[in-house]
Amino acid sequence: MKQLCAKEALKYINDGMCVGLGGGSTVGYLAEYLAQEEKKITVVTPSDDTAELCKNLGLMVLSLEMTDHIDIAFDGCDELDKHLNALKANGAIHTKEKIIAAMAEKYVLLIDESKYYETLPLEDSVTLEVIPQSRNYVQAQVEKLGGKAVMRKNSAKAGFVISDNGNYIMDTYFTELAAFAGKPEVLHQKLKQLTGVVETALFIDVVAFALCVCGDEVKVIKK
Ligand code: 5RP
Repeated sequence: MKQLCAKEALKYINDGMCVGLGGGSTVGYLAEYLAQEEKKITVVTPSDDTAELCKNLGLMVLSLEMTDHIDIAFDGCDELDKHLNALKANGAIHTKEKIIAAMAEKYVLLIDESKYYETLPLEDSVTLEVIPQSRNYVQAQVEKLGGKAVMRKNSAKAGFVISDNGNYIMDTYFTELAAFAGKPEVLHQKLKQLTGVVETALFIDVVAFALCVCGDEVKVIKK
């Protein structure tokens, strides 16, 4: 299914483009197809794993810092709703993913139908990147908003996960989107305005369209 989705995404990529590639397995297949077809493109990515894969495949990878324009960017997500709001919970690289999404003319999500919902169920955490010194404050404010906040721990070493930007990763859990008028954008705003929160993993109003594998066909999901 993921390969089918990646093959469809390939059709949107032409020689000369600067292409954003996020993280995850579907994007990995897309990188492989780009290399197989010897597309003359440059890649920017928020993910160290994708960067390494692309370099090994012989694709040219540019640093995000040196980039000012991206023609099209592809990424995976964990949940997507019919308004094209998305949740990207687990990667902990969502701040850089959002920079790519903002820079891209089109930011496209690659999913299968198991990730597509009427309303985001928030089964995964709404992950926050937080400035370390703000952690207790943010944790308390998340609880006031009716959520549960858990600092992401590093399983290999003792201590907390540190993001690429030197910040902590906090997983927050909200079961009642109803408390936010059923709107993920309201929850996103409330979390984003807490001092010390760098970014939330809710992607609001940035997705141009999604390619969704349903059975053996790929549907384009637009607003
Ligand atoms: C992490 C993400 C990833 O992009 C997503 O999980 C990738 O999914 P897949 O491996 O199915 O392509 O959003 O939070």
